[in-house]
Amino acid sequence: MSKAFDVVVIGGGPGGYIAAIRAAQLGLRTACVDDWQTAEGKPALGGTCTNVGCIPSKALLQSSENYEQAAHAFPEHGIHVKGLALDLERMLARKDKVVRQNNEGVTYLFRKNKVGFFHGRGRFSGGGAEGWQITVEGRNEEALTAKHVIVATGSNPRALPETAFDNRLILDNAGALEIPEVPKRLGVVGAGVIGLEMGSVWRRLGAEVTMLEMLDTFLPAADETVAKEAWKVFTKDQGLNIVLGAAIGSVTTGKKGVTVEYSTKAGKHKLECERLIVCIGRVPNTEGLGAEAVGLRCDERGSIEVDEHCRTNLPNVWAIGDVVRGPMLAHKAEEEGVAVAQRIAGQSGHVDFNTVPWVIYTAPEIAWVGKTEQQLQSEGVRYRAGQFPFMANGRARAMGDTRGLVKFIADAETDRVLGVHIIGPMASELIAEAVVAMEFRAAAEDIALICHAHPSLSEAMKEAALAVARRSLNV
Ligand code: FAD
Ligand code: NAI
Repeated sequence: MSKAFDVVVIGGGPGGYIAAIRAAQLGLRTACVDDWQTAEGKPALGGTCTNVGCIPSKALLQSSENYEQAAHAFPEHGIHVKGLALDLERMLARKDKVVRQNNEGVTYLFRKNKVGFFHGRGRFSGGGAEGWQITVEGRNEEALTAKHVIVATGSNPRALPETAFDNRLILDNAGALEIPEVPKRLGVVGAGVIGLEMGSVWRRLGAEVTMLEMLDTFLPAADETVAKEAWKVFTKDQGLNIVLGAAIGSVTTGKKGVTVEYSTKAGKHKLECERLIVCIGRVPNTEGLGAEAVGLRCDERGSIEVDEHCRTNLPNVWAIGDVVRGPMLAHKAEEEGVAVAQRIAGQSGHVDFNTVPWVIYTAPEIAWVGKTEQQLQSEGVRYRAGQFPFMANGRARAMGDTRGLVKFIADAETDRVLGVHIIGPMASELIAEAVVAMEFRAAAEDIALICHAHPSLSEAMKEAALAVARRSLNV
């Protein structure tokens, strides 16, 4: 006998679990199917983000930053630590504990909101406009029916051709969070978001890190001013060895570790390392979903095809998050989840890709929202830009973290904020003000006229906004 729901969500990551909660809040009978499990076989809700993505990486970034601070920044503050030692096992165990707390948090939220949870792999087994059948293969097989289905099955790491992940020597993002001892030499293929975050973690803990990046440009999605500053800090100050324009040839594993043969304009090279993290992007996950069986259409990259409302080609089947187009970010997935739940309930939903913030959790952090100068130039938009260095911010000086800057870009005629780019302390928090400003269609002058607490890092936001009109006060 099948169990009937108004909405069945397949996937319990940030897209899926948020969609399920919102649908239940709106009075829809809702279930979520998710197959993630711990090593002991227990359900572990929260998807990639909670289990092997956002949360554990940020836990290790924090721990490794604390270690680095204790070793190198504390003496400047007059604090001398004797016998500083790294207990990696404990650091990894703490990270696992943070993950479990988040898994439990989602389970609690499902109970609180009366979302039915089915642990196992969900697939379409039939149906149409009148309703869909979903089979769950888990410990027991379950048959569900749903008026609406939301597919939120996420993404998987992309492997190099002919180099499968073994998570012993060739590591994906999950393996990169679990290295049992600090490698002397760590190789990283791809100097994107995961490469920079995980490369930073292991460098701080003592590894010599070499990153091989295919492109000739470093961080091409970021504003050039920020990318240049980041390059200087990561390579010169922090000693990340980043090789641009690297074409990977062969990757071989042996007793001593991994050998990567690659070439650049300068010729052929060889990288020997104990472990290799491969982080060259992610691919949408529709494996075992039964998409073909019901005719659910995917594009050439494997993403489920959706319109601007996240509707697929099938009636009452929706798709959100990493499995569809757009940035692969947890908060983008969440926003789509809420919007779709509301649309199903007959309300409206809203996701504006132009105001989705990006954050890279290096030290200093990098964050931006809206357009870069390069984008505006190529679009022929007339703009004015103003920037302010953290070096001139009192709070940053007091913290001892004066690296980086804030840059505002505003329309030359209307002064409307078109983009904000930050590299510096707590950029991940500061960017929120820029997102609000852009959502409310603020002008740079609006930010410049707002009273910001002193001393605070947020004053750098005000000063950068003032700099658009060449009215800086503190520089
Ligand atoms: P997922 O989180 O991938 O969840 C999908 C879930 O569906 C999984 O639990 C999966 O097992 C399950 N599933 C798949 N198929 C089925 C099926 N047929 N039946 C049942 N269950 C199924 N984003 C940020 O915004 N900030 C960050 O700091 C950040 N850090 C990251 C760090 C790393 C190392 C990685 C890898 C990613 C990071 N991301 C970050 C990206 C973020 O994790 C993803 O964008 C986000 O998890 C996407 O959410 P989702 O709900 O679409 O999919
Ligand atoms: P990415 O797209 O950020 O970076 C991949 C890098 O690998 C790019 O610079 C690309 O040019 C390079 N590359 C591709 N093929 C290559 C090859 N064959 N050889 C060498 N280099 C190659 O992807 P990444 O780092 O794997 O992360 C996946 C996604 O996960 C991100 O795009 C982001 O959406 C999400 N994420 C978000 C985080 C955050 O918000 N802080 C943190 C980590 C991941």
